[in-house]
Amino acid sequence: METITQILRRLVGDAFEACGYDRGLGAVTASDRADLCQFQCNGAFAAAKQYRKAPLQIAQEVAQRLTEEKAFSSAQAMKPGFLNLTLSTSFLLDNVNAIAKDAHLGVPQDQIPQTIVLDYGGANVAKPLHVGHLRSAIIGESLKRLARACGNNAIGDVHLGDWGLQIGLVIAELSQRYPQWRCFDTDFREGDEIPQLDVDLLNEVYPFASKKSKTDENFNELAHRATYELQNGRVGYLALWKEIMRVSVVDLKENYGKLGVTFDLWYGESDADKYIPCLMSQLEEKGLLRESDGALVVDVAEESDKAPMPPVLVRKSDNSSIYATTDLATIIQRQRDFAPDRIWYFTDKRQELHFTQVFRCARKAGLVPADTELSFTGFGTMNGSDGKPYKTRDGGVMRLSDLIEMVVQAAQQKLEGSEYVAGTDREEIARKVGIAALKFGDLSNHCSKDYIFDLDKFLSFEGKTGTYLLYTVTRINSILKKAGVGLEVQIPLHGVYTSAEEELLLKILMTGEIFRRALDEKAPNYICENAYQLASSFSRFYHDNHILQETDVEKRESWIGLILLVRRMLLMHLDILGIEAVESM
Ligand code: ARG
Repeated sequence: METITQILRRLVGDAFEACGYDRGLGAVTASDRADLCQFQCNGAFAAAKQYRKAPLQIAQEVAQRLTEEKAFSSAQAMKPGFLNLTLSTSFLLDNVNAIAKDAHLGVPQDQIPQTIVLDYGGANVAKPLHVGHLRSAIIGESLKRLARACGNNAIGDVHLGDWGLQIGLVIAELSQRYPQWRCFDTDFREGDEIPQLDVDLLNEVYPFASKKSKTDENFNELAHRATYELQNGRVGYLALWKEIMRVSVVDLKENYGKLGVTFDLWYGESDADKYIPCLMSQLEEKGLLRESDGALVVDVAEESDKAPMPPVLVRKSDNSSIYATTDLATIIQRQRDFAPDRIWYFTDKRQELHFTQVFRCARKAGLVPADTELSFTGFGTMNGSDGKPYKTRDGGVMRLSDLIEMVVQAAQQKLEGSEYVAGTDREEIARKVGIAALKFGDLSNHCSKDYIFDLDKFLSFEGKTGTYLLYTVTRINSILKKAGVGLEVQIPLHGVYTSAEEELLLKILMTGEIFRRALDEKAPNYICENAYQLASSFSRFYHDNHILQETDVEKRESWIGLILLVRRMLLMHLDILGIEAVESM
């Protein structure tokens, strides 16, 4: 389905053309001055230059043409050359009713569906998930959902950090604690017994070993050797690694699941390992490898660089591969598996340099076709009220599972006074409200920005919060219940009776456009903003118009149709944000 401004652009373009001007001048946007008109076109200014005429005269000619057009109740030329447009009631209604009938609720579908691999989450195996992984997971998830909602084939890959030093640290520590385990013997064979690990042990071992490696040189050495031997196929280590993976992945799935985050692929850095020989030979063939202190690097600096651009290190002097190597090899893997049109990465913005280097190297080596988009979205940090990265009370790094627990408990307290929720339901509802507050609090900021984690604010029933949105849906549910109307019913709108209602209809009309923009700019905050706009317009409408007491049957029915549609629209927004709605609260 076309978006409203596409439709208007066509109509206004026709008018420009009919007046003898280029139809491309008819671009229409939502009005900057909602008090004057609903839409505007500034094409007369460009036309003035092109045709050497006064802009106002052109605007007047086009406005004159447009008065014949049924779509507008008013088309006015304003000094010095604006074209102010207001839609006719019938046109507004027809378009809103068309949106209600559309399978995608007016969200424009990409004509040529793109295959998009989204690399987000990025958890590290054996290390507990911490707050820093929160943003990657929820931003990536919402963009995956948004890309799908716009008709694309989006594939989410968690890209686990499962092949690096952290595993070596865990193996080294376990080998010192449990030297009797068979997997540490050099004659260990595949199929020999492996101990069953549990997640609590892993969560304890990694920070312990990491700390130890900083003061104990021998241990540090041992961990590096274990990493190297693992990567080079030592059988006992590989078997232990598989067990570490098994336990970690179960735990990760549980935590991501609580956030409403799921992945199509559970690949990791280790899966890229088999593509490294292919990567190295491609780099070699193109003559891109340069030796530097026994290591191999690829130069990626460009003349226009304003800041120094270090070469990419692809093989260390001890022959081991590093982060950039696995990322490059993973590009080969993705190209082979999916030939994606786009690959999108989501990590905190401190990794920007790494991705710039990787993308440049990938382009030089021709790992993907020239028109494949490689894009990096870097996000800011979640800060505490002191403006510094969020920490636990004792100053440590907060685990994601603890953060989730804290938010859900706070939601539970908040709902204590609610007359609508009782007993066991309360726990489930509190969980959803807490997660909604957390996710919306994050996603409503432009992702490049840092933001302050303010639980009281996030859980407020008023203002731009996830809680307010869930609450709005429950208010609509309760009106519909009182009216005796099923939630899934659809009723076409018959008329536009009040100004609050008109404002709400315009918000509905603009939604498809906003989804499109959110996807183009990879900015889920637009979806949050629009959801909030819809919800607050609904509140004004409901405040001004007493739906249930309305005696005019047609009007009442139309209003019920409208709130049914608003409800579906809000649910669509929440779904994109990966937020679950609640029946009542
Ligand atoms: N595991 C990494 C980290 O915790 C994030 C991975 C991001 N994705 C990638 N392809 N490098 O920092």
